[in-house]
Amino acid sequence: MDLFEAVKERRSCRAYSPDPVDEDVVLKILEAGTWAPSPLNTQPWEFVVVTSAEVKEKIFREAERCKGWALEKSGWNWLEKYKADFLKSVPVIVAVVGDPRKSGVDSFMEGGPRGYEHGCAAAVQNMLLAAHALGLGSLWFTFFDRANMGEILGVEPEKQVLALVCLGKPAGDQVDIPRKSVQKKTRYL
Ligand SMILES: Cc1cc2nc3c(=O)[nH]c(=O)nc-3n(C[C@H](O)[C@H](O)[C@H](O)COP(=O)(O)O)c2cc1C
Repeated sequence: MDLFEAVKERRSCRAYSPDPVDEDVVLKILEAGTWAPSPLNTQPWEFVVVTSAEVKEKIFREAERCKGWALEKSGWNWLEKYKADFLKSVPVIVAVVGDPRKSGVDSFMEGGPRGYEHGCAAAVQNMLLAAHALGLGSLWFTFFDRANMGEILGVEPEKQVLALVCLGKPAGDQVDIPRKSVQKKTRYL
């Protein structure tokens, strides 16, 4: 698949068929993640591949808890309609875990390390594009408390779960989400 086609055609998927995803396909997607750039090539990511129904249920419950909390804090009523049930039926969830000690020179700057988050974000995007190129739907999911998700997944406390990547065959039609024009988003100096 052409890269520009993949970039434009990839959409977030929130409904999945229960068909399992082959392990070698998952591995290919993880490998695409590892080819992301990172500060000083620290490769700050680790992956936890979740297929267990029991763990997915715990992830779903954490998302629901987070939704309730966010609804209360933000007053965003649309959140009430947001259903995270796909977390229970999606065949594979990959947790992307970042290590704050694996950052760049920003580690010594005010505000603390951020590079590990950027490196992991680049890895996530590579994975979403790879999934699309392999005919799978995917979703970048962040509706959870990092420490709580770390406990659910048995992650060491010094590392952080930064994203969950859902992977599976899409069920239903893809929702088209528009973009603002590049002209509106660009300044030339
Ligand atoms: C950092 C980040 C966090 C996101 N978290 C969530 C999430 O928790 N739940 C969700 O349904 N979508 C989440 N998304 C997906 C966005 O909603 C989606 O990318 C956006 O609406 C654009 O739609 P598209 O991906 O189909 O182009 C997240 C995306 C990013 C980049």
